[in-house]
Amino acid sequence: MRQEQYKKAMEATKYEDFTGCFEQGCTKCTLSAHDNHPVLYRGNPEAPIVLVGEAPGAKEDENGRPFSGPAGQLLDKIFNSIGLNTDQDMLLTNVVYCRPVAPKFSGRQNYTPKKEQTAHCWPFTRKAIEILEPKIIIACGRTALCALLNNDSCRIGQWEGRWHNNIFVMTHPAAILHQSNDPERQRQTKLKVWKYMQYFRDTYKEKL
Ligand code: URA
Repeated sequence: MRQEQYKKAMEATKYEDFTGCFEQGCTKCTLSAHDNHPVLYRGNPEAPIVLVGEAPGAKEDENGRPFSGPAGQLLDKIFNSIGLNTDQDMLLTNVVYCRPVAPKFSGRQNYTPKKEQTAHCWPFTRKAIEILEPKIIIACGRTALCALLNNDSCRIGQWEGRWHNNIFVMTHPAAILHQSNDPERQRQTKLKVWKYMQYFRDTYKEKL
């Protein structure tokens, strides 16, 4: 993305103008170095809820839709269980728009975006949130929470399942999937998440 497109994105007042600035790609940070494409959002820009995740993975990079891989399927299930549809009732986006992935020779593993990558991309997501003016923001995982609180050392465990003003904090579904090698731990985490999502269901309308 050229400098003037970056400026245009940061000055946009309509979400479609903002997203349009990324159509030619983005080269603002090192994440663009591995054939990645910016993945902006999926869902409903008119919805009162914006969910912020970490970063696109392989599937998302492939089809341009956040949370369309295995973590996204679990996320959809979690919200379906409380009567919400992730494509209609909210908009899903991420702290960074491009997939943080190790180069081909080192196995194409995803990694948590680095501080300088987040520093480049987060102003875009923050700007998108400013345009969308959601009533509720869901911080999905630690990376999103730290970005939203502007605190690099935030501890997700202290916040999960709780409101912080209009921000609701939830466990990232990928963290649940990563526990598959410890079924009992995974069961406990699922129980915890399903329980606090019922709390979310019972309280979110007060914020609308
Ligand atoms: N994990 C995220 O945080 N975001 C996605 O879009 C996919 C997986």
